[in-house]
Amino acid sequence: MEANYIKYTFYDKTREERYKKYQEKNPNLKDIDIITRVNLDLDFPPFSKTSLAYNIGSPLVFVNKYHYLQENYVPESLETVEICSASNKLLVKEAKVAFEELCKEAKKENLKIRLVSSYRSYEYQQNLYNSYKEKDGEQMADTYSARAGFSEHQTGLSMDIDNEVTTFENFEETKEFEWMQNNAHHYGFILRYPKGKEEVTGYTYESWHYRYVGKSVATYIKENDLTLDEYIARSDTKKE
Ligand code: DAL
Ligand code: ZN
Repeated sequence: MEANYIKYTFYDKTREERYKKYQEKNPNLKDIDIITRVNLDLDFPPFSKTSLAYNIGSPLVFVNKYHYLQENYVPESLETVEICSASNKLLVKEAKVAFEELCKEAKKENLKIRLVSSYRSYEYQQNLYNSYKEKDGEQMADTYSARAGFSEHQTGLSMDIDNEVTTFENFEETKEFEWMQNNAHHYGFILRYPKGKEEVTGYTYESWHYRYVGKSVATYIKENDLTLDEYIARSDTKKE
């Protein structure tokens, strides 16, 4: 088994015992997925082993159920999105420029993409999460809403979109979704919580939630059918 593991550059000898245990518990997973998931600390329950987000201030900032942003963290260079947006929506400048370009191109094909949620402060997320928790209970809320500090909406690089007609929860049924599937990566965006990757991302599938990572990483993630989590776990881009 070890011989198979060590062919991966992201194999970490210090995690050897954890790989073995995880493999025993998940005998159907491929070696590459065992290493990836243990590198992501998925052998620990969510929120039980947390540390500050990696790559803060970069388009590769990594926030999930194990990596958080501090309460007072507000990204630099937040700007108001001028077009294709519900009122007063903010994104980090680089993501804003990319989103506006994306939206203009979609418009040329008579498609309407509208930003409905983007940067959310810690406090806003706290209220949102608490309202879901009251409605559905903590266990259920944790499957679809991030706890305050653990939402990548606080990075200013994430966005929820609709097509102005269909509610965002049904975005998957729209032509705009199909267009996003084929084109989002050209503008630096990825579908952040894809179908079939729920165990890796920790969240149910969200057809409406996109994350700016830059064009080359977005294209790599798309072409290799990865999530941002898997990309980070297999690369050496982590900076504390
Ligand atoms: N719905 C996503 C996971 C969030 O709350 O950030
Ligand atoms: Zn979202």
